[in-house]
Amino acid sequence: MKNPLKNPIVPILFASLLLTLSAAFTAAQTARVFRLDGGNSTYAFGVNERGELQALYWGGRLGAEDTIPPAHSFPQVASFDSSYTTTPQEYASWGAGLYTEPALKITFADGNRDLVLHFVSATAKGPQAMDLLLKDISREIYVTLHYSMDANTGILARSADIENREKQPVVIEQAAAAQWTLPPARYTFSYLTGRWAGEWTLNQEPILGGARVIESRRGTTGHQANPWFAISRDDSQSSVGPFAAGEEHGEVWFGALAWSGSWRITVEHTQLDAVRVTGGFNPFDFGYKLSPGEHLETPVFYGGYSDHGLGGASRLLHRFETARILPHAPDPKPRPVIYNSWEATEFNVNEAGQMALAEKAASIGVDRFVMDDGWFGQRKDDHAGLGDWYVNPQKFPHGLKPLIDKVHSLGMDFGLWVEPEMVNPDSDLYRKHPDWVLNFPGRPRSESRNQLVLNLARQDVRDYVEGFLDKLLTENDIAFLKWDYNRNWAEPGWDQVPIDEQKRVYVQFIRNLYSILAELRAKHPKIEIESCSGGGGRVDLGILRYADEVWPSDNTDPFDRLSMQDGFTYAYTPQIMMAWVTDSPHWLNHRSTSLTYRMLSSMQGSLGIGANLNHWTQEDFATAKRLISAYHAVQRTIVRGDLYRLISPLNGSEFSSTETVSSDKSQAVVFAFADATQEGRGFPLLQLQGLDSNAEYKLGWIEGKALSDTPERASGAWWMRHGLQLELRGDYRAAAFRLDRQP
Ligand code: DGJ
Repeated sequence: MKNPLKNPIVPILFASLLLTLSAAFTAAQTARVFRLDGGNSTYAFGVNERGELQALYWGGRLGAEDTIPPAHSFPQVASFDSSYTTTPQEYASWGAGLYTEPALKITFADGNRDLVLHFVSATAKGPQAMDLLLKDISREIYVTLHYSMDANTGILARSADIENREKQPVVIEQAAAAQWTLPPARYTFSYLTGRWAGEWTLNQEPILGGARVIESRRGTTGHQANPWFAISRDDSQSSVGPFAAGEEHGEVWFGALAWSGSWRITVEHTQLDAVRVTGGFNPFDFGYKLSPGEHLETPVFYGGYSDHGLGGASRLLHRFETARILPHAPDPKPRPVIYNSWEATEFNVNEAGQMALAEKAASIGVDRFVMDDGWFGQRKDDHAGLGDWYVNPQKFPHGLKPLIDKVHSLGMDFGLWVEPEMVNPDSDLYRKHPDWVLNFPGRPRSESRNQLVLNLARQDVRDYVEGFLDKLLTENDIAFLKWDYNRNWAEPGWDQVPIDEQKRVYVQFIRNLYSILAELRAKHPKIEIESCSGGGGRVDLGILRYADEVWPSDNTDPFDRLSMQDGFTYAYTPQIMMAWVTDSPHWLNHRSTSLTYRMLSSMQGSLGIGANLNHWTQEDFATAKRLISAYHAVQRTIVRGDLYRLISPLNGSEFSSTETVSSDKSQAVVFAFADATQEGRGFPLLQLQGLDSNAEYKLGWIEGKALSDTPERASGAWWMRHGLQLELRGDYRAAAFRLDRQP
């Protein structure tokens, strides 16, 4: 039998994880250390002498035989900071004088608000997974902390289950999924913010004293910030300033929250220089009544570690998302190249017009034709129709079948836009069920885009939504749904349940959303789904368990997309990053760009075409056909390979470049963009990364060229060390090439 002490997953000094420890706290337990290893990282925590679960280590992988010193609570600092607040707990409850961010805060029926969690038992849940049971020192509140580490990437999934075994209800005012403790050091915090048509801005700032909060109070993930973080250790040897987060070098701790409702991540630099990250349900307006016997399960907070900078961190996340999160993991197939009609026709869809576009889309090699908004109810514009999910008889007198048949006959599959959680007041649904929307009785109902949010937390609303979608998918041969969500919450009332249960809406709405998606996927196993929320307002690891792809932004300007795609890929894989080629000049910025530039910008992700093909020239069709064919040939490498950001488009850079290398290093694909050449500067030397130094690679051009003395074949070492010089100057010019390993 394998020696359990040598198994890195087994807690040190813990004879067998199959043992469930006794509830009684004993002196022997103070020595207990739990350790998880995966990929290149180790995570360890232990029980201190008071019985609290305490963070011990998170970082690069330690030797299998290494001893992790047991947990000892930290000392009190003067009379102002008790040991309870100075000790870095794994899941700190608010009580006993805690001044740092709590993971859990509860009010009991008798008014007591003090909660102090102590270790009860540990249970193995698999080779790399365990549950830790905690309990309040006197009350019957139990918290089970779930830990599960991915062996390949070392990404750790953490969540908590809170159970009330008291005789009275309690109210949970704050519940995190997890808290992460970093070693004491100087750090840079990276996070993503945005707004409609301006998502995925990468921000970087030093972590100084105090707390930094990123969050959504909107009932949904939101555009304003994304539930992802990365924290890079500032290397004082090489740092030129506080913003020294390395792209390929240095230690990075990162995480992402799997929740599509209101969320919060707090990065805290405590007064004693500890850096801690707390994330989970947003405590703002939270108040979850937990009756006796009930549980509240938090979302999952994933965390990982890389010693290859932000680039290494994002490559781990990409691998983890495709292998462990996405539908069809571990091997989701690359996305079909789509055509979407939205920017061409907006609401003005009809059978003949869509058929004409479908013919043109098929002629350039598109795989999937998607009809966007406007096909249902009395939907002439955004004032009416949401909620009435019948096919508009004026636009489609024979239903959707003739169009779907036509699309199939052209060799494409068919996708359709829906916005299931919304209703226009001007709809039959709202006239029949005005009580179905989120609202506070007697108060105004704030409309956005002339629509209100259906209260999906209600069982009848949930069933209606699942019912119409099931019917739509049963009656029509639909391969793909673009699932849109075009506003955030206002007046989140739910007056059909008792007052003290109404705030459950923040949890129940999202759970019902997930359950609808899960059931639809189970009933219609071939369906694929895109998560869209007026662009990138609902992108997170929660929705990505049910969505095959996302729409990152309504902003399809190919130049803006370079920096948005750059930001997006810090957190999410290019596999899910839909990128359409649309018209020039662009409707948002009025910027003119060539079709080639637009194509190459979009080809860095999962390619789509969203232009009005009725306006294209023969030359446009030929260019698109050639580039779609080139894309198909290397798509798997682009969306599933290891991404290296060779030149960042951020900070007003006039150049940018990305490279992706297939996991077996047999192919690399490089994109390069010159956006505003200045003072005659040539494109910077491109030194590639991630190739096999000893293998020979052959250069193949997708678009553009290099200086004439560039070899056609050279070793991986040559492409990485010597590098090549592109001939790329001008404004909004682009080049792309592939390297194929030679036998
Ligand atoms: C917002 C989406 O992001 C767009 O792509 C489009 O589907 C519109 N909604 C349709 O109303």
